Amino acid sequence: MHLPDSDPIWDSLAASAAHLSSIDSHDLLQDARRNDALRHALAGCHFDFSRQRVDQHVLTQLIQLAESLGLPTKRDAMFAGEKINKSEHREVLHTALRQGAPAVSKTISAEVAQTKQRLYQSVEAIRSGAWRGYTGKPIKDVIHIGIGGSHLGPELLVNALAHLPTAGDAPGIHFVANVDAADINRALSGLNPETTLFIVVSKSFSTLETQVNANTARSWFLERTGDKDAIGQHFLGVTTNRQAASEFGFAEENLFPLWDWVGGRFSLWSAVGLPIMLQIGCAVFDHLLEGARVADEHFAQTPMHQNIPVLAALLATWNTAHLGCNSLAVLSYDQRLALLPDYLQQLEMESNGKSVDVDGNPIDYRTMQVLWGGCGTNGQHAYHQLLHQGTSKFAADFILVGQDATERNEHHQWLLANGIAQGQAMTLGHEPANLDEQHKGVPGNHPSTTVILDSLGPTQIGCLLAIYEHKVFCQGVLWNINSFDQWGVELGKQLALPIYAQLGGHSASSQDPATRHLIDHCLKLNRAK
Ligand code: F6P
Repeated sequence: MHLPDSDPIWDSLAASAAHLSSIDSHDLLQDARRNDALRHALAGCHFDFSRQRVDQHVLTQLIQLAESLGLPTKRDAMFAGEKINKSEHREVLHTALRQGAPAVSKTISAEVAQTKQRLYQSVEAIRSGAWRGYTGKPIKDVIHIGIGGSHLGPELLVNALAHLPTAGDAPGIHFVANVDAADINRALSGLNPETTLFIVVSKSFSTLETQVNANTARSWFLERTGDKDAIGQHFLGVTTNRQAASEFGFAEENLFPLWDWVGGRFSLWSAVGLPIMLQIGCAVFDHLLEGARVADEHFAQTPMHQNIPVLAALLATWNTAHLGCNSLAVLSYDQRLALLPDYLQQLEMESNGKSVDVDGNPIDYRTMQVLWGGCGTNGQHAYHQLLHQGTSKFAADFILVGQDATERNEHHQWLLANGIAQGQAMTLGHEPANLDEQHKGVPGNHPSTTVILDSLGPTQIGCLLAIYEHKVFCQGVLWNINSFDQWGVELGKQLALPIYAQLGGHSASSQDPATRHLIDHCLKLNRAK
């Protein structure tokens, strides 16, 4: 948190952390009023923060901290469309994509509505079979090409919502993100170009991986059809860079805009979500948007002490700054949410993995910890050992789904039982029965949050993801960093250019000894082939 050491709130939080270090989570949980203050429901999602390591006094202090750092004012500035992304001089208005920013300009609302109408027309045509390929056949397969924010949200939700009845009318949807040819080869294998549609998503339309994959897809298509004019019926594009996209060959009517005010990792609600719309249909996509809108309204209007993303951010920041947690494990107890940790990795780590403040000054406090995770119960037979008995300090988010969607109740009951029990073990731990059994001791007292979705429906997941988005914003405010840029990823992109040339034997520019050695080794391997 960015308070100077001398600030009285900082001192009192540090004193509280010292005081709490001698109190067991078991004892914290005996305070029913505290527990109530840490449990909140919204749009079919139950958020339970009661296994976090705070008492009512710390909660009050944290709320004071949020107020003193101007969180409510900064939140209002975001919703009002102020240019809070200072390093890129941009507004942050992904909320406008789901009507969650009612004060936004009429031009923006009109553009969003018009684009949505065009998208929905295309989606209905593809799903109904009215959209025909160049030989007159309906579309059976869709390949989505994009990476990072142009990929992770769509793949997460296409998988998460595949059980919905409306997904039965969807074409097969395949994702290609990696520049590794194995990715696109796998996706293309066995597909018929006559019935395959490509969606190329790139906000900048200059991302290397997406460029290379889109070119390969186009070559694959042209080699089989020999007809450049057929591209129009088989390629859709989503980008802010209309000019570069037009040069690629998309038909004008198949290009969908994005706007500078939508960050890539906040963009699944826009045309980037085309595969989701194709998977679940437009009416159900509207429920997804509605779930997110409800979260926006909650964030904008609810008092700080009952505001779910505010509490989530304050607790997460408390865990990092005062309890020394250096990782956040996201544990999905639902196979359909297996990709949630990947999605949240980009959302939280690309947003808040920063070491300068909003004005560019170096900072000397911890910002975003490493977020990782996986699917329960599998993880219990792999890395949970370290969580229970290792020496690392961590926090965990458990994500459970209450209702069974599988009609195999025994499985679901075990899944829930394990999800709840793992959090219990991390909270309460286990005291060995005697000194000979120290190896069985589990310290416990690890902070965790449990979210239980009533069912895995579009409204619930829309709400959950929007809550995480707002949590990210709040943490950015608490750390005084810009959560909406990502300059750190640029260096690697630059450095890859000369190395690529050298691997192709086209450049002799010098490199440091380690890099030179690796390039020479790869060159030797390829010469030896
Ligand atoms: O390199 C990081 C990044 O810029 C992400 O922020 C973004 O989501 C991803 O690459 C893809 O970018 P684009 O949509 O412009 O292809």
